Amino acid sequence: MKKIDQNNLPRHIAIIMDGNGRWAEKHTLGRISGHRQGAKSVKLTVKVCRELGIQYLTLYAFSVENWLRPREEVDALMELLKEYLHSEIKKLMKHDIRLMVIGNIGILKEPVRILLSEAMEKTAHNRGMVLNLALSYGGRDEIVEAVRSIAEDSRVGKIRPRNITKELFSKYLYTAEIPDPDLLIRTSGEYRLSNFLLWQTAYTELYFTDVLWPDFRRKHLMEAIYDFQRRERRFGLTSDQLQRGGSDLG
Ligand code: FPP
Repeated sequence: MKKIDQNNLPRHIAIIMDGNGRWAEKHTLGRISGHRQGAKSVKLTVKVCRELGIQYLTLYAFSVENWLRPREEVDALMELLKEYLHSEIKKLMKHDIRLMVIGNIGILKEPVRILLSEAMEKTAHNRGMVLNLALSYGGRDEIVEAVRSIAEDSRVGKIRPRNITKELFSKYLYTAEIPDPDLLIRTSGEYRLSNFLLWQTAYTELYFTDVLWPDFRRKHLMEAIYDFQRRERRFGLTSDQLQRGGSDLG
């Protein structure tokens, strides 16, 4: 296995967990079995990230567009989420993991919302890692919601239009307390962002793998981190400027 540098870990990894349906088809099973198997990869990935010392892990568990899937599939995904929260809360506490959620959670059904609030409250003081679930999440919706709140705060005189900066804007997003992802992984051989963290991924390193999410294992995560560590993150500067520490940039 490739050896990763413990001193150059991505602080925040975000994952688009894709390919559950194709995994199921490949094994002549129903789509829901694919999601069930995908939940196992979730548990494993959380464990490995915590062991490695990753500080933030964001998982795209359910998009706003996913509401349009067949009712049985939506219900099964919500059921899996409930099962996950029930079965994993003890482990989250034991491993000092804080659960956070981004997305329009107001439209989730009450039992799921209650379980999520309880888990977030219970884990609120954990400091080992943040597990951030994107649920009923849409990047464009997030941006529009932020614009709406800024417009309202401006209308009532809480902020002035000239004080609207990138930093202020970020504070109006669901991810206000979370740093931007350093590495974004997408499984299953698709090469798009699918409305995920559109603002936050401006300088994120993107990594795509053909592995289907239910097959995603420790070695695949290590390969992604290894690849990340070989990239030069320039944030728009030249290599030369970076080597000089950006000291001539005023
Ligand atoms: C994409 O696969 C995956 C999803 C829409 C849902 C992700 C959900 C899980 C991994 C399981 C439950 C999650 C938690 C947090 C317990 P797809 O169905 O779009 O796959 P396809 O493109 O092959 O059809």
